[in-house]
Amino acid sequence: MDTDPRSTMQQARAPLAAKAREAMEKLNDEAGHLAIWLRTQANAPSQRPWFTHTGDADAGQMAQGKVAAGQMKASPHLWKWAEISPYLDKIAQIAANADVPPVEFAERQQFLLVNPGLGGRLQVASTIRCAVSIYNPGDLARAHLHTPNASRTILSDTGGYTNVEGEKIRAARGDLILTPNGTWHDHGNDDDKPVVWIDTLDWPILEFLDCIWLDEHVPADVIDPRANVPIQKAVLAEGYSHRAYARGGLVPSFLTHNRGAGHGVSPHVHYRGSDIRAALDGLKGEKGDGYEGVAIDIVNPVNGAPLFATLGFGAQMIRAGEETLAKRETSNVVYVVIEGRGQTEIGGQTFDWQENDIFVVPNFLWRRHVNKGPKDAVLYTMHDRPLLQKIGQHRVQGRRRDGSVEQLVV
Ligand SMILES: [Fe+2]
Repeated sequence: MDTDPRSTMQQARAPLAAKAREAMEKLNDEAGHLAIWLRTQANAPSQRPWFTHTGDADAGQMAQGKVAAGQMKASPHLWKWAEISPYLDKIAQIAANADVPPVEFAERQQFLLVNPGLGGRLQVASTIRCAVSIYNPGDLARAHLHTPNASRTILSDTGGYTNVEGEKIRAARGDLILTPNGTWHDHGNDDDKPVVWIDTLDWPILEFLDCIWLDEHVPADVIDPRANVPIQKAVLAEGYSHRAYARGGLVPSFLTHNRGAGHGVSPHVHYRGSDIRAALDGLKGEKGDGYEGVAIDIVNPVNGAPLFATLGFGAQMIRAGEETLAKRETSNVVYVVIEGRGQTEIGGQTFDWQENDIFVVPNFLWRRHVNKGPKDAVLYTMHDRPLLQKIGQHRVQGRRRDGSVEQLVV
């Protein structure tokens, strides 16, 4: 008996009579104006194979037929910092000579990452939007609030800040600054050098749910009257998030842990890069995980939950000389290279990376990391695993050293 699931599936999908299929297509042409689609086995849409198909070539393939019409699949892709970063300066040059008020540029000088597989949508994956922003000295972005959750991964060494619900958070390289849904936030740069960061948002999910709301009508008592655009006045002393929440397992019992009007968000909104690095350093002597190296989740310190209901964040160290085993999961993962250089195989393609490069592993493609440099590499991850887990669709497979596949999360 043939137990290969691939051939079983092929048997189930024996070619159907072309004549019958043609007749069905013709009928659909006729009925199309009624906004219906007629189907039988003759023109049955084929579904994407998954789970039992464990080869690289099968992964991430689109279905054929009607079911795939209009569907798109994110591609694995890497944005090289050396190629994309010069465009931040080019925006600044246009801003310097612009015939519009400076605020038109100061509020948004950024480029969005456009996944080549998504037909021009401003998305890095089906669920995630990423942009790279620059704030030049003196730039201000007015206070606002929205329903999408957003985060900033800081690439510059220092410079720039984000005010979140009255807390001024100064940015440093490797920091993760959150602006959860429903929190007032504004940005600026009062340093003498530009600051660059990566914005990551769950925008596509909220857009799909028709839930995008944005508010720029900041209540008067929130605004700093000294500024020429609406920015928040400082309500909390700098370093509040760090003082209140950055010591793992120690949570203030006299605080409500509410920040803003959002639901289920972390009250800790500033995860320092130095703390993340120290955590990884402290663990690098452990065995780690064969599929991920030394990896940590960055979580809500009050309840251990993911930072957003939709998106989770992590950091991992691929130690010098380390190669991980291949793994795939039903969630999208975006990587930012914070330190080191190496390569990642994604669905059979190899991508070389170095500092500040950004790459995406779309859902259910095999991935495998290799450190190619002389020192430890640090990758930050942003992923939609929390959402997949909530709806019971998070599954993970790993490919052992001998090539066999194990079910890590079924
Ligand atoms: Fe925002």
